[in-house]
This record gives sequence, structure tokens and C-alpha cells, in this order.
Amino acid sequence: MADLSIDFAGIKAPNPFWLASAPPTNTGDQVMRAFDHGWGGAVWKTLGDPIVDTSSRFGAISIGNERMAGFNNIELITDRPLETNLREIRECKRRYPKHAVIVSLMVESKDDWREIIRRVEDTGADGLELNFGCPHGMCERGMGSAVGQEPEVLKIVAGWAVEFSKLPVLVKLTPNVGDITVPGVAAVEAGVHGLSLINTIKSIVGVDLDRMVPYPVVGGRSTNGGYCGPAVKPIALHMVAALARDPRITVPISGIGGIATWRDAAEFLALGCTSVQVCTAVMHYGFRIVEDMIDGLSNFLDEKGMKSVSELRGRAISAFTEWGDLDLNYKVAAVVDTQKCIGCDLCLVACRDSSVNCIHTGEHPLPAGHRAPSRLAAIDRFRETGVKVTWVDWDECTGCNLCAHVCPVPGCITMADDTRGKPFESWNDRIAKGTSHVPGGLHD
Ligand SMILES: Cc1cc2nc3c(=O)[nH]c(=O)nc-3n(C[C@H](O)[C@H](O)[C@H](O)COP(=O)(O)O)c2cc1C
Repeated sequence: MADLSIDFAGIKAPNPFWLASAPPTNTGDQVMRAFDHGWGGAVWKTLGDPIVDTSSRFGAISIGNERMAGFNNIELITDRPLETNLREIRECKRRYPKHAVIVSLMVESKDDWREIIRRVEDTGADGLELNFGCPHGMCERGMGSAVGQEPEVLKIVAGWAVEFSKLPVLVKLTPNVGDITVPGVAAVEAGVHGLSLINTIKSIVGVDLDRMVPYPVVGGRSTNGGYCGPAVKPIALHMVAALARDPRITVPISGIGGIATWRDAAEFLALGCTSVQVCTAVMHYGFRIVEDMIDGLSNFLDEKGMKSVSELRGRAISAFTEWGDLDLNYKVAAVVDTQKCIGCDLCLVACRDSSVNCIHTGEHPLPAGHRAPSRLAAIDRFRETGVKVTWVDWDECTGCNLCAHVCPVPGCITMADDTRGKPFESWNDRIAKGTSHVPGGLHD
């Protein structure tokens, strides 16, 4: 069985699955129960001056049967006294010495940072995470994303933490910036030992059209919140990958954003993360989800012949490149499995109304010289059953693969290679050779 243990900038954990700083890490009781379920680490709910939260404070988007596909909150940092939190962190570390306990922090002045770091170190915690990401409430007070969005300020505050701390310091980045490498590099220049991202994305999740108030409704008002859950995973993956492939980022990365399964986690690891953190999925399904995550990742590593999780780290980074370096001669075309097709026409309509109109049914004529690998089988099926299954004119198909995405039947439409031996040639190759001109384009 593959070794799942990790060493994140000196912070050791039995596996890469950590709870993100959020409601599931609010108390010692929760964190210790999470460790019993198998979580390898936890980032404690952000400590600082205890706040007052609103009621309500969550909003969500459900898509079809998928509840909480996107989740939104206006919750602030901990509302519990610092002393209580510190006592529980100490207890947690005493009882679970092999698990990673990282403490998230957010305070205002240099003296506040010095004082809170001193007190947290005294608990035996393994590391600190500086919350420079919260996009609501705390930023109006000059903290959270107000720091994360200003690289110079970020560098100064992170520098204080590095100066005052004997523990590894992680900076948790806000995604509410134009280019994630700017705050990432600023944090590395400040001397931090790791990065974690993403915190939540500034958002309004919807509007109550009867009361004419955005969600979540607080009396008769609302405010912007932070968006997270499955919907944000693509944004988080992109930001993680942008940092992981940047040679200036020399510290490990903890990936966060929409992770709910071992597969999600494996994708973050393949794009360069050393650990992953989870919030919304645990709020939705509970601590128990980690059991499947551990089993799934272990099996995957075994299947791929990887002896440890570190062998997976960064495996997909070299394939993530600029558009200009993609092969313009690579070509795929759609194939419909005529036995699986139910004749719903969704692919045909999508192709006709939004692409090149190369999908047809039944006995529709095929222009001379054109190829359509499944046309005869489709005609046979139509004659036998009366179901007008679709087929694809390969000489018109551009391989955009919209049809495969709209098809409701798993495995019915697949994309097959139709490159036919053409050599690799990217846009950048064409520019270099002076052959980038497209016939019929603007300059014809
Ligand atoms: C209700 C709620 C409270 C949160 N509180 C904190 C917090 O105190 N500190 C922090 O750094 N991040 C906080 N977060 C952000 C999460 O740690 C995490 O970065 C974000 O939710 C993305 O992960 P997910 O898609 O798995 O939820 C909070 C998120 C939610 C939903």
C-alpha cells in the first residue's frame, strides 16, 4: 500500500487530507473527532479578537439534485475566547501528536501579531496559517483580503509573522486578485514556508425576489459573501497550477477549493499541491468522507504503481502550458455509439445551433468523399427500431466536443483521434516560421 504521509515544510501528517480553517475546526472536540475519522491535519478556525456573527450567514446554489453545488458565507473568524481555543489546541496536540495542527490567525497590529504568535507557539501547534483571504467583514477592518490584495502590505505583515515565529508560516491567499502569482511571490519574498489557496471568492449567491434582498438575508439586508464548494474547484485548480509552475514559488502549496472526493484531491496533488484542505464538503457530508478519500487515493496510487503520495505531486504540471504551445494539427472527431444512443437529438441541436451542424440522423445524405464511421450502423438501427440515432460527418466535425458534453448517456459520444499523421505545430511555431496567416482572415 502506498505511503500517504507527507512533510509540508517540516509539518508532518499521516496523510495529505487536512480540514480547512472553517466551522468544522471551530473546537477541540470537532478536530479530535475528525482525527479519529482519519483526517491527517486541521487548520484551526481563524483566531483573533473574537467577533459577533450574523444570523443567517450562509447561502447556496443547488443545480438539479446537487445541493450546495456552490456555497456562500458571511461568517467571520472565531467568536470564542482566545484562551478557550488555545487550551483546546494544546489538548488536541497532546492527544494527537502525530497529526498536523495548524493555527489560522488574523490580527491587526504588529504587537498583536507578536503576542498571538507567542501564545499559539506555547500550545505545541505545528504551524501557523495567516488568513489574508477573508473577503467580507474583516477586510473592512483592514484585515483578511485587504492584506491579501495588497502585495506590499502582505509582504510586511507576513514578514512580521516569519520574524516572530519559530513555527512554519503558511500564507492563505485570496483568489480576489487579477494574477495570483503576484501575492504568491510577495509571500515567498517575505520568507514564508508555504502557501495555501484558495480562500473564498467574493460573491452574491442570489436574490430573494419577494423581499428584494440578496441572500443570505440578515433582517432586511445582506452583503457580499465568500463563494466556495464544488463550483469553485476549477478556479482553485487554475490558481494552484499557476503558482506551482512558477519557478519563483519555492515553497509547498496546500490546495483548497471544492474538494470533496479522492479524485478532486488527486487533481490538486497532480497540479503541485503537497496537502489539500476541505471545508464545504465536510459541512455538507461530515467528517466521514475522509475514509473514502484515503481508500480512493491509496488504490489509485497502487494502480499507478506509485509508492508514495509524493510521487503524484506535480505530475500534471509540465502538460499545463500556454495556448500558443498547443498542437494546432491535433484533431479529434466525435463518434456516436449507435447502440447506446437514445435518439434524443440534444447533440444534433447543440451542433446545429452552436457549432458546425455536422451531426445528422437516419438516412440524411453524406457529401461525396466525406467520412462518417457510424452512419451505416445508425441507418441499420433506424430501420430495425425506428429510433433516429445520430451520426457524425467527420469531414465537417471540428472536434470541439460540445456534443459529448450535452449527451445525457454516459459513454455514448466519445472523441476519436483524426490527426492522420500531421506533425506537431503550435501557434508559436507558426509565428516563428512566419506562417501564422489564416487564409480568409482579416488580412486576406
Ligand atoms: C462558513 C465558512 C467559514 C469560513 N471561515 C474561515 C476562516 O475562519 N478562516 C479561513 O481562513 N477560511 C475560512 N473559510 C474558507 C475555507 O477555509 C476555504 O478556504 C473555502 O471554503 C474553500 O474551500 P471549500 O470549497 O472546500 O469550502 C470559511 C468558509 C466557510 C464556508
